[in-house]
Amino acid sequence: MALLKESLKRIKPSATIAVTDKARALKAAGRDVIGLGAGEPDFDTPENIKRAALKAIEAGKAAKYTAVDGIPELKAAIARKFKRENGLDYKPSQIIVGTGGKQVLYNAFVATLDPGDEVILAAPYWVSYPDMVMLAGGEPVAVPTTLESGFKMRPEALERAITPKTKWVLLNSPSNPTGAAYTRAELKKLTDVLVRHPQVYVMTDDMYEHLVYDEFEFTTPAQVEPRLYERTLTVNGVSKTYCMTGWRIGYAAGPEPLIKAMATIQSQSTSNPSSISQWASVEALDGPQDFIPKHNKVFKERRDLVVSMLNQAKGLQCPKPEGAFYVYPSCASAIGKMAPSGKTLGNDEDFVTELLQSEGVAVVQGAAFGLGPAFRISYATKTEELE
Ligand SMILES: Cc1ncc(COP(=O)(O)O)c(C=O)c1O
Repeated sequence: MALLKESLKRIKPSATIAVTDKARALKAAGRDVIGLGAGEPDFDTPENIKRAALKAIEAGKAAKYTAVDGIPELKAAIARKFKRENGLDYKPSQIIVGTGGKQVLYNAFVATLDPGDEVILAAPYWVSYPDMVMLAGGEPVAVPTTLESGFKMRPEALERAITPKTKWVLLNSPSNPTGAAYTRAELKKLTDVLVRHPQVYVMTDDMYEHLVYDEFEFTTPAQVEPRLYERTLTVNGVSKTYCMTGWRIGYAAGPEPLIKAMATIQSQSTSNPSSISQWASVEALDGPQDFIPKHNKVFKERRDLVVSMLNQAKGLQCPKPEGAFYVYPSCASAIGKMAPSGKTLGNDEDFVTELLQSEGVAVVQGAAFGLGPAFRISYATKTEELE
């Protein structure tokens, strides 16, 4: 009998983590490598948040297990955040805290997907979505977008993708890997479609909510269309906005029975997220937010620089996205051409391998995100390195 279960054959390791590991290995071997693969801010966690963590340890609040789905103080801070920033009302029983947004998303899929249930997502998508869906026993249904449409899903395409088996429509704005964010009007057109399909649930991954530029107004589905409130799971976290990727805190709010089921799964797997990180997250959400525009100013400058330089490069084409810290240039015109190494570039994986081996620059191939030939650059790195 095979050791590994059958369904695991469909699952691959995260391509973004693989690229980061490859770049790290080359660096360790003495190569001068510029890593543009990692999806995390290069800024340190703000001081007030770090101090809150230390204070929690010193006050003896860290030693014990906490409530599985999060300490009441953090749930209250999350409820305040949803009210203040999104105009959404949630009771503590509608909120769950997990070990990163990743665990929260995964728990939601495990809690809801029966074999054959479909999850619609726009391609390019975050690498983990399809694999999470498949691990939970569901079927990812990718709706391809185009560079010309700014990598945004069109309402007609969404309508066509919905079947009697659709359980979730998963939205991610601003997007990893493209940085594309839906305006209120664009989102309304998608929610209009969803209102017509009452059996479909909406999962929105708002992880990059605060990372938007040029006065872009962030909105989220339950806010744009209150009729979807009862069937929307709004996922968010402190990783990206508060420079806390290592602290591992994510959260979600939605229908009480779903939140309860997700908490049950968590109680039988990982239990509570780190007590220290939870106390730090209370400070992140309730404390001063003034560093966000400061970081965003830097991110915006880098985005503009990167987009401008990429569009000057022969064979590349790069739209200017609204948010996150990624750009997603097309390398279609480079495919079929011979690289300096003498190798012909057959696809975007060849392109990124060549870029790493001959130029020492690590990026992630579009194939990993379900739409190519393209690649993802994370500009959450020093301006000199980007140049
Ligand atoms: C779109 C998106 N969702 C969720 C996550 C998960 O973040 P975390 O688990 O650090 O909260 C990430 C991280 O890369 C992401 O890019």
